[in-house]
Amino acid sequence: MIPTVEWKDGIVKMLDQTKLPLEVVYADCRDYQTVAQGIKELWVRGAPAIGVSAAMGLALGARQIDAPDFDSFWPKFEAICAEMAATRPTAVNLFWAIERIKHFVQANKDKSIDAIRELLVRESQRMIDEDIATNRRMGAYGAAFVSDGDNIITHCNAGSIATAGYGTAEGVMRAAVEQGKNIHVWVDETRPVLQGARLTAWELMEEKIPCTLVTDNMAGYLLYHDQVDLAIVGADRIAKNGDVANKIGTYPLAVLCKEHGIPFYVAAPFSTIDFATETGPDIPIEERNPREVTHVLGKTQIAPDNVQVLNPAFDVTPARYITAIITEKGAFRPQDLHHLADPKRDPERFRITE
Ligand code: MRU
Repeated sequence: MIPTVEWKDGIVKMLDQTKLPLEVVYADCRDYQTVAQGIKELWVRGAPAIGVSAAMGLALGARQIDAPDFDSFWPKFEAICAEMAATRPTAVNLFWAIERIKHFVQANKDKSIDAIRELLVRESQRMIDEDIATNRRMGAYGAAFVSDGDNIITHCNAGSIATAGYGTAEGVMRAAVEQGKNIHVWVDETRPVLQGARLTAWELMEEKIPCTLVTDNMAGYLLYHDQVDLAIVGADRIAKNGDVANKIGTYPLAVLCKEHGIPFYVAAPFSTIDFATETGPDIPIEERNPREVTHVLGKTQIAPDNVQVLNPAFDVTPARYITAIITEKGAFRPQDLHHLADPKRDPERFRITE
């Protein structure tokens, strides 16, 4: 497991995922603007990874602010938070992380600015440790749904590098393997940015988890021929009613699974659940550069000049297509999620194990 993002000697080192699988290189971010650019341009991507990267970016930003006291520091810091929040609209972990950091700064407003700067670095590092621990707990709950010999289909990349480490959907697979189960993973290539082909296939091969790459339009073939036992994907934002936004192409896979009676699981931390968003249609969907569709990885042109293009980066899978949402607090029917909006409510009552 290689770090997705880390703090080293005043620099945020970000694994540049646009270079994978051909090169494993880290981008050195010396200011918050470079971190924001890295999030926008997908050097780092995946909802939890975006969140922790933003937190590290804010720690850098605090160091760039020239302010003698908290009253002059705070508006400048808020402006940096707003810039960071404008990078990508769908993954709610970004906004969750920014809010957490803002509260943290407010809670420490009586300290010196230098002390706040130092504490922010430690808080963002704590968020990394917490995210890895969260993913491990999620993996333990999720592995219960995986049987020895299962063929799993996944979409996009919800692996170690989409998080601070270990992964969400891939964390479940990893945990199943750690329990001694033999699995095989069908990896959707995930057009247009190819997170499946470039990242998931690479990660699974590094982990020696058997996998086969397919193009997105082959999922129906696999299900028709009884080649899939279950689907596990990640999420970018989960609405209060259990609707799930994830990488474009997740919804058709979920519909196919339902048609074939195949369970469809979503693995995501609680920070991906947005209890303030009532239903899927309320989730903002990012539209990305048409060039992602007209060119393969921004290079080889595959469509006529000036063709009209639509490029939504995510779609919404309605709750009724989802068997369970696997979190660090247990697995839940999407329809039960709203009961957990109150963090004081004991999740035990709603947990499912099969
Ligand atoms: O555009 P991306 O690559 O950031 O989209 C990522 C996904 O859709 C992932 O499935 C999701 O963030 C879960 S990552 C654990």
